[in-house]
Amino acid sequence: MLHSNRASSALEPIETASLDELQALQIERLRWSLQHAYDHVDHYRRTFDAAGVHPSDLRDLSDLAGFPLMSKSDLRDHYPFGLFAVPRDQVARIHASSGTTGKPTVVGYTARDIDQWAGLVARCIRAAGGRAGDTVHVAYGYGMFTGGLGAHYGAERLGCTVIPMSGGQTERQVQLIEDFKPRIIMVTPSYMLVLLEEMVRQGIDPRHTSLQIGIFGAEPWTNAMRAQIESTANIDAIDMYGLSEVMGPGVASEYVDAKDGPVIWEDHFYPEVVDPETGRVLGDGELGELVFTSLTKEALPVIRYRTRDLTRLRRSPARAMRCMDKIVGRADDMIIIRGVNLFPTQVEELILRLPQLMPQYQLVVSREGHLDALEVRVEVSADAWPQLSAADLAALAKNLQHHIKAYIGVSAAVVPLAPNAIERTAGKARRVVDNRVLRAG
Ligand code: DLL
Repeated sequence: MLHSNRASSALEPIETASLDELQALQIERLRWSLQHAYDHVDHYRRTFDAAGVHPSDLRDLSDLAGFPLMSKSDLRDHYPFGLFAVPRDQVARIHASSGTTGKPTVVGYTARDIDQWAGLVARCIRAAGGRAGDTVHVAYGYGMFTGGLGAHYGAERLGCTVIPMSGGQTERQVQLIEDFKPRIIMVTPSYMLVLLEEMVRQGIDPRHTSLQIGIFGAEPWTNAMRAQIESTANIDAIDMYGLSEVMGPGVASEYVDAKDGPVIWEDHFYPEVVDPETGRVLGDGELGELVFTSLTKEALPVIRYRTRDLTRLRRSPARAMRCMDKIVGRADDMIIIRGVNLFPTQVEELILRLPQLMPQYQLVVSREGHLDALEVRVEVSADAWPQLSAADLAALAKNLQHHIKAYIGVSAAVVPLAPNAIERTAGKARRVVDNRVLRAG
């Protein structure tokens, strides 16, 4: 397929295709992808054979459910290149994501994969309201992380002027936003908060910068956080989802006029939601683990890859491609406190109901005797902090504690902190500190 360098602002035909047209394309591509994986990757040949399935068994999209699921451990077991489906000399790029433990997860792309990736991120930026000629400030990290380069190639493909800032150097980021006047910023939502604080510190009103659109992702964030960012910065805040194993940023993204959850680019990634315990496929609207099968990837096809991300799929009358609810959290980030499951995003929502608190927070889990203890550390806003007495702070803490108990069902100790007390990160925020793991390890 030939791609022009400058995509127009019009929708791609597939974005307005009927469900029949979309599914016909998916079936055709799915057959290709299964066959490609089976023919070129030992792992798939072995696991398909063991499950008694063959790519030619796929007649209908629902037949995919008969194929084995795979997970991150399959990538780790074949570290670094064992799941690649093309000879090494056709691999144009490598990325890797550092896990919390052990070896990184390595992913590879052919030149055509990178081309498709750029096209999909361009689609995301366009859906967010971006156009050729816009200036895009990319503050996702460049390097082995897929965020920076993924966003970069997409913005270039759309015909934008790219500022390849990467993460970090917060003061300079703000200075360049002032001087270069980007219309769009692509960054993690937590680092956006840091940039907004820095603007205030430099005497800049965040509501009056050149920025009009923020494309945020790489970590879970709530609609309450969206509202906070939109009102503080006077921009449209768009949710873009992706993961390295499946491609990187741009697997799914929101349309600015809907903002009702990322739309999955189903012409390239076939989504399923499964019961995380049994692996059984769930229907649209049911909460479970998101699973992806790549339909066009050459270097690293993934067949029924378990993302560990929990969400639901929804079909809207507006289009054939389904959208997903905002990710509640990654199964890995789920904390179990005395038998109650809890995601940081649930606490984030409650924090944002109290105007004196900032969505700068950390959940610290420890073990007291045989019992798990949860401490919620949260910053007080710079405006409120000087005005609050010790008694006010205690009342504020009690208020949040009460909400957490009432809505989530967990007893937590709440510690209100001074502005800036929690470490800032230039990429993904660290929301959970689990001291139980440390002690055991
Ligand atoms: O974070 C790719 C990316 C970069 C996406 C920039 C969006 C923007 P990984 O480092 O492999 O790749 O992490 C993937 O991050 O499985 C989710 O748990 C989480 N995640 C990514 N986007 C979102 C989002 C990139 N919009 C993991 N909402 C995924 C919630 C997200 N979680």
